[in-house]
Amino acid sequence: MATAAAPSAASRIAVVTGASSGIGAATARQLAAAGYRVVLTARRKDRIEALAEEIEAAGHKATAYPLDVTDREAVDEFATAFKTVGVLVNNAGGALGADPVATGDPDDWRRMYETNVIGTLNLTQALLPKLEASGDGTVVVVSSTAGLSTYEGGAGYVAAKHGEHVLAETLRLEIVGRPVRVVEIAPGMVKTDEFALTRFGGDQDKAAKVYQGVAAPLTADDVADTITWAVTRPAHVNIDLLVVRPRAQASNTKVHREA
Ligand SMILES: NC(=O)c1ccc[n+]([C@@H]2O[C@H](COP(=O)([O-])OP(=O)(O)OC[C@H]3O[C@@H](n4cnc5c(N)ncnc54)[C@H](OP(=O)(O)O)[C@@H]3O)[C@@H](O)[C@H]2O)c1
Repeated sequence: MATAAAPSAASRIAVVTGASSGIGAATARQLAAAGYRVVLTARRKDRIEALAEEIEAAGHKATAYPLDVTDREAVDEFATAFKTVGVLVNNAGGALGADPVATGDPDDWRRMYETNVIGTLNLTQALLPKLEASGDGTVVVVSSTAGLSTYEGGAGYVAAKHGEHVLAETLRLEIVGRPVRVVEIAPGMVKTDEFALTRFGGDQDKAAKVYQGVAAPLTADDVADTITWAVTRPAHVNIDLLVVRPRAQASNTKVHREA
């Protein structure tokens, strides 16, 4: 029965945004290993081209397409490359700064909204007809536990991630009855090479403090694993929202740190 089968990965396309590092790169590797033809996008061409080569060398299918998710014209042009798309993973994004509301930089807030929310909106709007045309498409939104509750110093990022969470929830309501699932993955603390460094403008000490004393933060592979699991459920199974944190983190503000 069609409804009991997992969407067939064979020759289906999975577009991953922010595939040049961290969670996006790990997701591209895992979806390719699951049989998807992965399309890697990010601004850094050299990174995604190298990853596409690595995935192809492992016997899987991958292509690289440099793309800034905030550039709507470029996103629309990108979308013309496909007749159908099976999976869209909206992963590109991140945090800038950790200042309190009283002193936060409005430009950081704008850029976070642009990348996390408008970027996700751009790709989702451009590819929705192609996802529907696939017969059983999946939109994944990589939000964050910051999309579900706040923490001091996080308001700009928290506001943007709440925006992504609302986008996912609303889209699911609006397209019910059409053959596209909307899956939100909300990770807690993930130790990736660049997330905290980008947040603190390249300051290694500040970035290291984020994970200081935490025995085992999540890895990019842990999150990629949850994304791949959700995407490979039978087509009628919609994982609405999956919250994944390391065991040492009970909430955004309660983290166990060893001395
Ligand atoms: N690490 C965590 O603790 C954590 C927790 C929860 C949620 N998340 C979310 O998970 C996602 C990935 O995070 P990560 O930890 O893997 O961080 P990361 O390594 O910094 O990855 C961010 C990715 O987004 C891409 N990107 C940023 N701006 C872009 C733009 N305008 N257009 C296209 N691509 C853009 C970057 O590529 P280029 O610079 O090459 O464009 C990069 O590939 C983000 O949405 C983040 O908010 C992370």
